[in-house]
Amino acid sequence: MNAALPVEVLKQHLIDPEICIRCNTCEETCPIDAITHDSNNYVVDPDICNGCMACVPPCPTGSIDNWRLVVRAEAYSLQDQLGWDELPREQPLPEAAAVAQPAADAAVEPPSAAAVAVMPSAAPGASVPPWSAAHPYVNLYTHKTPVTATVVGNYRVTGADTDSDIHHIVLDFGELPFPVLEGQSIGILPPGADAQGRPHHARQYSLASPRDGERAGYNNLSLTVKRVTEDHQGQSAHGVCSNYLCDLAKNDTVQVIGPFGHTFLMPNHPRANLIMICTGTGSAPMRAMTERYRRRIETGENGRLLLFFGARTERELPYFGPLMKLPRDFIDINLALSREAGQPKRYVQDLIRERAAAVRELLADRNTCIYVCGLKGMEVGVLDALREVTMQAGQDWTILHDVLRREGRLHFETY
Ligand code: A2P
Repeated sequence: MNAALPVEVLKQHLIDPEICIRCNTCEETCPIDAITHDSNNYVVDPDICNGCMACVPPCPTGSIDNWRLVVRAEAYSLQDQLGWDELPREQPLPEAAAVAQPAADAAVEPPSAAAVAVMPSAAPGASVPPWSAAHPYVNLYTHKTPVTATVVGNYRVTGADTDSDIHHIVLDFGELPFPVLEGQSIGILPPGADAQGRPHHARQYSLASPRDGERAGYNNLSLTVKRVTEDHQGQSAHGVCSNYLCDLAKNDTVQVIGPFGHTFLMPNHPRANLIMICTGTGSAPMRAMTERYRRRIETGENGRLLLFFGARTERELPYFGPLMKLPRDFIDINLALSREAGQPKRYVQDLIRERAAAVRELLADRNTCIYVCGLKGMEVGVLDALREVTMQAGQDWTILHDVLRREGRLHFETY
């Protein structure tokens, strides 16, 4: 009797729609454009994905790290995946497929997590945290099990006469555990449904407060939220979640998921220096880290803080007043204003070039970590500026860039 012909098995890469927060990181990271999305889901094209794992470490929730053994000819199509509310269960493979599976599987076996951590990557930032980072909790609360937080503060932190309506929102978790670290984010579930009648997906916001709370010793945290009234092209657009959040009153309740993020974390060891580069609401994690340092100023443990902060004008720069009150010997503040009347337009990357000596000095110290958060467009500009200042000193940026990534010392969070 003839043996059954082996059937080709695929270890299919899938994204868990119940955990995914639709942050777009995977789609941006995928080097071969295998990931796409619609208004419902992020999905992986089985005909393109080669299991390279580049998208796995940057995913803040881990929803990307799902795999199913399927007969290749019956792989879940993009259309299937776009319609899912949850991942399908693992299906038993036909016998012939099971026989062939180990070889077929080996061919698509993704590299181990350890291999991924040192793999050269096209991503601009590290996929590992700094060596001394504290261990983060992630996904304690999901779309199915959100936690309720109470609004205990909601203040505008930009000039009332400007178009930039940015709010500092404080959420309290009462007796429920919500442990966080600076650099992590949370998801907010706005009430209501989208045009298709589906509940809105969570929107992700970085924490603006340090690990011990917006008010030290309390179980609360803060967010920096810009009311979205136009899209990146300047066309009128209504941000569902940002408008919901900016309009909240004290004692309102909010559904929260998370926390998320396991790499954009600050170092914990004494005398670690931070170079912080941000625009607009990208200042949230920088405020969290700065506040962590400020609260332990007396300990003498702090390294140096060098901040590059971009905004249209002083009045549109969130937290301008409190920021300018910080002692000059505690933090070196460089403001890049792009639309201040009577001043030339300046971006953070211009200031990095102007402060080349200070940047180089800190870069030469292995205790320095760099954080970049804000508009997507700044990524290239900041990398170019860092390349320029290092090359001016005869250093090879390619090598330094690789070291910074490998040592978890260069982190990007852009949108
Ligand atoms: P611009 O005045 O050219 O828009 P926003 O207020 O839109 O959040 O932007 C925050 C700041 O970031 C603004 O000063 C804005 O300048 C600036 N910005 C815009 N694009 C870039 C970019 N590619 N690199 C650095 N900064 C940028």
